[in-house]
Amino acid sequence: MSKRDIGIDLGTANTLIYIKTKGIILNEPSVIAVASDADNILAVGKAAKVMLERTPLGVRAVRPVMRGSVSDYKSASAMLSRFIKKIIKHGFSSKPRALVCVPAGITDVEKRAVSEVVSSSGIRKHFLIEEPMAAAIGAGLDVNAASGCMVVDIGGGTTEVAVISLGGIVTHKSVRCGGDSFNVAINNYIRKKYNVLAGTHSIENIKIEIATVMDGDASHRCQISGRSSVSGMPCSCFVTGEDVKNAIMPEVHIILEAVKSVIEETPPELCADILKSSVVLTGGGALINGMDRLICDCTGMPVVIADSPLECVALGLGKIIDNKTLNKKFFS
Ligand SMILES: Nc1ncnc2c1ncn2[C@@H]1O[C@H](COP(=O)(O)OP(=O)(O)O)[C@@H](O)[C@H]1O
Ligand SMILES: [Mg+2]
Repeated sequence: MSKRDIGIDLGTANTLIYIKTKGIILNEPSVIAVASDADNILAVGKAAKVMLERTPLGVRAVRPVMRGSVSDYKSASAMLSRFIKKIIKHGFSSKPRALVCVPAGITDVEKRAVSEVVSSSGIRKHFLIEEPMAAAIGAGLDVNAASGCMVVDIGGGTTEVAVISLGGIVTHKSVRCGGDSFNVAINNYIRKKYNVLAGTHSIENIKIEIATVMDGDASHRCQISGRSSVSGMPCSCFVTGEDVKNAIMPEVHIILEAVKSVIEETPPELCADILKSSVVLTGGGALINGMDRLICDCTGMPVVIADSPLECVALGLGKIIDNKTLNKKFFS
């Protein structure tokens, strides 16, 4: 085991870095702002996220990881290099070895893009691990047991559904639905119903405040400001939990179908195991009110939300880094 091992969760929405024995030392939005003429980096992480949709001419704030894979190689590489420099500031000086998670089922070309981004950001050597595996380990599931466990990770760009047994993924499905597509759906809904054009930050706040997928919990409401699509002038309106639920349900249904199809493809013996061990929900989408109950209602499986859904994958990488047996298995 190396003292310099780190775990990187390069997510569509957030990047987390775990350092051996120190824990999660970086947790920042996966955003970078660059001056488009000179290509110099103006900000990364939290500082760059506030710039999204607010940049003046000549500045570009982008999210270089979209839908679970690298969409802008140069920006992704610059962003990760900055993050690595930040952790070096925290007293982590030598070139690290890294365990990096990637969505299950991405293509070899997509894997290579992640590898190139990691290699170009100051990492000595790295190994890739499938995200649902890291999420399951982070949620405290015994992935090496001769027993099935199931993880549903609802991230920013994708939702990953996987059944794991004996240290490997048995069945899995990945759909391009998650926090981002919920935001787009809410935005479209508000535009159509209230004639208000709102920005992504305001939409995301609404989602975090009042989003629900259950009928009984849809009475909360929240004010949102933007520009009227009729007059073109600034305006605001009240959005209800019911509105947000109506907006996101078509996306949520795609996730439910993915969960059901994975269960249908899972051998009956493993299904019986999952009935005992529960389906574990991770990722930011796990925090949407009622998501656990809805999946339970639709599948008949017991569902639990992981303790820290947004950090679960990084914590899983950490457990692998800190555990001798797991370390040997995944750093090879
Ligand atoms: N409390 C919350 N309720 C609903 N959605 C949330 C909440 N907190 C975060 N999110 C959403 O979760 C997504 C980020 O989840 P995360 O697991 O970090 O994604 P990724 O792994 O793709 O970076 C974002 O779309 C964010 O809006
Ligand atoms: Mg993730």
